[in-house]
Amino acid sequence: MTEHVVIEKDEGILTLTLARPDKKNALTNAMYGKLADAIEAAETDADARVIVIRGQGDMFTAGNDVGEFAVIAAGGARGEQHVHRFLRALVACSRPLVAAVQGRAVGIGTTMLLHCDLVVLADNALLSTPFVSLALVPEAASSLLLPLRIGHARAYEMFAFGETVSAKDALHWGLANRVVPLEQVGDVAADLAAKLARQPVGALATTKRLMRKADMLAAQIAAESECFAERLKTAEAREAFTAFAERRPPDFMKLAS
Ligand code: COA
Repeated sequence: MTEHVVIEKDEGILTLTLARPDKKNALTNAMYGKLADAIEAAETDADARVIVIRGQGDMFTAGNDVGEFAVIAAGGARGEQHVHRFLRALVACSRPLVAAVQGRAVGIGTTMLLHCDLVVLADNALLSTPFVSLALVPEAASSLLLPLRIGHARAYEMFAFGETVSAKDALHWGLANRVVPLEQVGDVAADLAAKLARQPVGALATTKRLMRKADMLAAQIAAESECFAERLKTAEAREAFTAFAERRPPDFMKLAS
C-alpha cells in the first residue's frame, strides 16, 4: 500500500509530510493512525525534539476524506477510528509543533493548526472550517479554541459559512506566526524548527503545558465527538456527502427542519 504520510528525522526534528497529493492530502483513517503513532512515539524519543507537519503538492490538506465520512455515516467503518487517537496525541504532545501550510487547509487541516505552536503560512494559504456546510460540527476542540483565538464573531462566521480566510487575515487574526512567499514556506518552517531544537526541551515542554489546558481541551473534544457522531447519521449529512460525490452543491432546503 502506498504510504500517505512520510516520516523523516534529522538533527532533532521529526518531519511528518502528508503525502497523498492526488487527493489533495485528504486524511484517511490509516493516515491518522500513522500521524498518531509518530506523535506518540516522539514523546519518548530524544531525537525528536520538535515536530514539523507539512503537506506535499499544491495544498496542505483538503481535510478528512469525505468518502470515509460517508462510509462511517452508512455504518460501514471497521476497526479503530484513529482520528480520536490523533487528536489525543495533538493535545498531549509536549514537543513543539511547527506547521508549514501552502494552499488550502480545510477542516481538520485548519483545526490542527490551533494545536501547533508555530504556524508558517505561504502567501497563497487559505484556511477554512466547512463543518456546517457538510452538516457536521467543529472538532479538535476548535469550538473552544477558535473563538478564544480570533473572537466569537469571526469564528462563528468561519464555522457557519465555511468560507476561506486568506493568509493575510489569518496572520492578522492571530492564527499564524508568519506569512512568507510560497517557495520559502518549507525553509522558514525548517529554520524555526531548528531554532526550537536548540532550546532546552524541558523548559519548552513545561511552558507549553502551562499555556494549554489539556484536560479542558480533551473534555471539549469528547463533547464535540459525541455531537459529530450523531451528525454523521443525519439526512443533512447524507445529502452533503452525496453532493460531494456527485460534484454538485448540496440542497439542504429540501430537508425538513
Ligand atoms: N476527501 C476525499 N477526496 C477529496 C477530498 C476530500 N476531503 N478533497 C479532494 N478530494 C479528491 C477529489 O475528489 C478529487 O479526486 P478525483 O481526482 O478522483 O476526482 C481530487 O481529490 C482532487 O480534488 P479537486 O476537487 O479536483 O481539487 P480542487 O483543487 O479543484 O479543489 C478542494 C480542492 C479542497 C477545494 C476541494 O477538493 C474540496 O472542497 N474538497 C473537500 C473539502 C472538504 O469538505 N473536506 C472536509 C472538511 S471537514
